Amino acid sequence: MTTPIVDFVEKYDETISLRLHMPGHKGKCFISPVAAVHSLDITEVCGADSLYEADGIIKESEENAAELFKAHKTIYSTGGSTLGIQTMVSAAVPVGAKIIAARNAHRAFVNTCALLDLDVVWVTGENADVISSNVTAKDIENALCKEKDAYAVYITTPDYYGRMCNVKAISEVCKKHNVPLLVDNAHGAHLAFLRENLHPISLGADICCDSAHKTLPVLTGGAYIHIANEKYAERIKEKQSVFGSSSPSYLTLCSLDYCNFFLENSVKEALCETEKKMSALKERLSPAWQFVDGDVLHLTVESYKSGLSGYDLADRLRERGIECEYADDLYTVMLFSPIDNDEDFEKLCAAMENIPQPRILLYKDEIPFILPEKAMSIRSATFSESEKIPVEKAEGRICSLNAVHCPPCVPVVVAGEKIDKNSINILKKYGIFEINVVK
Ligand SMILES: Cc1ncc(COP(=O)(O)O)c(C=O)c1O
Repeated sequence: MTTPIVDFVEKYDETISLRLHMPGHKGKCFISPVAAVHSLDITEVCGADSLYEADGIIKESEENAAELFKAHKTIYSTGGSTLGIQTMVSAAVPVGAKIIAARNAHRAFVNTCALLDLDVVWVTGENADVISSNVTAKDIENALCKEKDAYAVYITTPDYYGRMCNVKAISEVCKKHNVPLLVDNAHGAHLAFLRENLHPISLGADICCDSAHKTLPVLTGGAYIHIANEKYAERIKEKQSVFGSSSPSYLTLCSLDYCNFFLENSVKEALCETEKKMSALKERLSPAWQFVDGDVLHLTVESYKSGLSGYDLADRLRERGIECEYADDLYTVMLFSPIDNDEDFEKLCAAMENIPQPRILLYKDEIPFILPEKAMSIRSATFSESEKIPVEKAEGRICSLNAVHCPPCVPVVVAGEKIDKNSINILKKYGIFEINVVK
């Protein structure tokens, strides 16, 4: 597989001796920890193509990626899945229209709805909490039967705990109702390369975005937008240009470009090994530790079942030089990638075996997630005059900015919703003690 962006940038660095253009570091070495990469950080010079009007090396590289992911078209994002979500939603849903969405959406989706003034009909499944909506095909079918004027369905899978929706079944329902399925697959770029291809594009999604940087060896900000349905392909770059920076990072583009080489040659074997190592790890550590079922790269420990809060387990691991992706009162999430080797797995196993467990089942403080009442449009609330007040005093007020911590960046209360007692309890559980409300 070709790596046209990497090849161009390397050749450019060798042949051009004076850069009279941006970026201001001029590709020269500084006494800086990141000095080595400056020379490869260029701008849209002659021959370097242009992300939103790609017809050269970027187009060629994106076509390589489309082939690898089996998509009709793939485009790169250097603004992460955040830009991917803005792009895919604006490509499929007109301004002011209705969209059905699983509630565990990332803040980027809610903010996109504010920008496009969308009316969101939220869906939650059984035993939903803030992070896992657990929506099924039946939940989506019910929503589509009720909301005949919805333009699209939007789901997030895998979620932050690694739990996955049945994309195939949901996509069949969407096809029956003739609405596109949009998938936030930020945590699942690797799914296309497992022994069983579980990528949303192969399971029937119309458009999806993947944060390549989360589970593949790609620099932060590198992401894909994959399109299966031709209808949305032609104008996708125009939509992206509305939201993205006009100075996309060539370092990130190089990294996405080089990842194609990895995806073609090494990823399947590496992931196959990772799958084996992950099941061996779970077997070795259980029943002392228990795990949430889901995506193979997410190791989500139900630490409360071993008598430790998720935060406590994360602290114990940090003391042993291991930093986790996310923790809350019940769970600790560790995110693996095809790059983690035997030594990494052994280090985690040894550490977990040495962490003392009280072995008392901690009380699972389950506050049922009940959708708060909608009082204003997301757009009006987001852009209204607001004030920050203690959560304790917010009952009855309308949320202005999505109430959320990052990670996981999934709002408990969305802009425009009325804050009720139940939401206040959930906010406090997530350590959120102040909230922006409409004045
Ligand atoms: C589910 C989900 N969607 C979207 C995003 C945004 O992705 P990015 O950081 O690549 O912009 C995140 C980031 O954590 C996420 O967890």
